[in-house]
Amino acid sequence: MIQKKKTYYVCQQCGHESAKWLGKCPECDSWSTFQEEVRQATKKQTRHTSKASAVMALLEINDQQHSRISTGIKEFDRTLGGGIVPGSVIMIGGDPGIGKSTLMLQVLDSVCENKNILYVSGEESVNQVNLRAKRLGVRNKQIMFCTETNLYNLLQQLESMGPALVIIDSIQTLYNEEIDSIPGNISQLRVCTGALMRYAKSADIPLFLIGHVTKEGSLAGPKVLEHMVDTVLYFEGEQQYDYRILRSVKNRFGPVNEIGLFQMTEKGLIGVTNPSHLFLSENDTHKSGNAIVAVMEGNRPFLVQVQALVTKTQFGIPQRTATGIDHRRMNLLLAVLEKRCGKPFSFHDVFIKVAGGLRIDEPAADLGICMALVSSLDERSFIHSTVYIGEVGLGAEIRSVSRLEERIKEAQKLGFKNIMIPAASKVRLDLEKNKVQQVKNLQDLI
Ligand code: TYD
Ligand code: MG
Repeated sequence: MIQKKKTYYVCQQCGHESAKWLGKCPECDSWSTFQEEVRQATKKQTRHTSKASAVMALLEINDQQHSRISTGIKEFDRTLGGGIVPGSVIMIGGDPGIGKSTLMLQVLDSVCENKNILYVSGEESVNQVNLRAKRLGVRNKQIMFCTETNLYNLLQQLESMGPALVIIDSIQTLYNEEIDSIPGNISQLRVCTGALMRYAKSADIPLFLIGHVTKEGSLAGPKVLEHMVDTVLYFEGEQQYDYRILRSVKNRFGPVNEIGLFQMTEKGLIGVTNPSHLFLSENDTHKSGNAIVAVMEGNRPFLVQVQALVTKTQFGIPQRTATGIDHRRMNLLLAVLEKRCGKPFSFHDVFIKVAGGLRIDEPAADLGICMALVSSLDERSFIHSTVYIGEVGLGAEIRSVSRLEERIKEAQKLGFKNIMIPAASKVRLDLEKNKVQQVKNLQDLI
């Protein structure tokens, strides 16, 4: 029998289908994203028979399925909102080489289940994964491994094996033969994720999908996949630095602001319980141009060191370089310092850097950045071990910031003697006893 084939053009950004090729997607307005895909017009009956789902009383279901599975990795559980929910599908995205496979292998090793758990890798060979497992000192004998990339073979495998947890590394390597497009294509992604989700829900097991990130920084096939799965985690960090942040951007079963912090070592990832130690270097806080700020990453306060270097401009236009903070924010603060406090920055080159490679997007760091700048310009160091918290307004006034108490507590926990906070803020702490000073504006402080 000759099977009819039909050609579609599918937008690789949002999954919009069209009978003819289009330059611009009418759905998501992106350009040159349409790719040709061929599908069998008469659909074969799928080999995977899905079970009909039973009808139950809603409140009873809640009672039955409330228990989360702890992975034994504190930072990982925290990001998920207290452990893995059975039957949930969790996508982990991140740049290549950031440590997604390493993290998942460690999760498999420490998760305590009596049944077998399955690691499916379409990216690496048995030997590669075995080497990594040895390097990480994996001990869990329940971990099973396969390199299946065909969706139906995998589903059959899953049904016969009945694992307690599955990890797919990565979703972009899976393919369904019935779709005539290469693995990783949006149709493939959608079909494979859909089929795996149905399996995870009916078998009531957690399923992790590792996903690659595109050049633009979003998950490949971004909108479609993020809508489908229950939880989306991003694993991020800088290749040059060894810290990694696991961030939850969508979570049907928990808060989205949680982060988990890890350090990549030669023996794998280690959870960091005291984040501030990573971003502070203790020995040079007394030099000029240094200030310590308290920023929030997700729900956690971090103390971070900001460094500024201000030198006289030799000729031409002054240079401005910012690493770890927004360039425009630096320019704004320089303008405020020049206009309101009379600091002659327009005759100086300015370099700012956040220690440890962290990126600060919070206005609460403004005060600290200004103090680092002034300290370097005037070549004087301010009171030893001070933490600065506050947003700077255009009139050089110090504005209140959110979650002030948590920031103050973090600074105190690490033994900082002086803490500067905005005068306008209300805190339920004994300020004098805690050596917290309130500042109204930059002029007063400087
Ligand atoms: P990997 O998990 O393969 O990244 P991904 O799956 O996200 O592509 O991690 C690869 C990087 O991690 C590689 O550059 C080496 C580094 N690494 C360590 O530093 N220590 C280790 O113990 C392991 C296993 C990897
Ligand atoms: Mg990998």
